[in-house]
Amino acid sequence: METTSHSIKVCKVSELLDGQSKCVQANGKDIAVFNIKGKLYAIDNICIHAGGTLNDGAIDEEKCQVTCNWHGWGYDLATGKCITHPRQDVFTGTYPVKVQGDEIFVEVK
Ligand code: FES
Repeated sequence: METTSHSIKVCKVSELLDGQSKCVQANGKDIAVFNIKGKLYAIDNICIHAGGTLNDGAIDEEKCQVTCNWHGWGYDLATGKCITHPRQDVFTGTYPVKVQGDEIFVEVK
């Protein structure tokens, strides 16, 4: 089966400032997009633990991580790795993010 990726507009660059996050819906998924010190990251906006949303979690810019508000599970924004899960190999989805002109886009399949 052939899969093609789509660019989904998130917002204008000026609407996602350093240390902020936004949620966007794409292909039936909720995706959380983060600005960490000027770098953009996108992960699934659903916590593996029990479905909490991650776009409103606590952001740690130094560690490039977000912590779910519900029960405190943390995620590495660059890799999607859950840093709290008892197993070491649990990841949430990550997505490429790009800037075109003054707008932010996330790539989803
Ligand atoms: S739902 Fe996220 S830590 Fe429990």
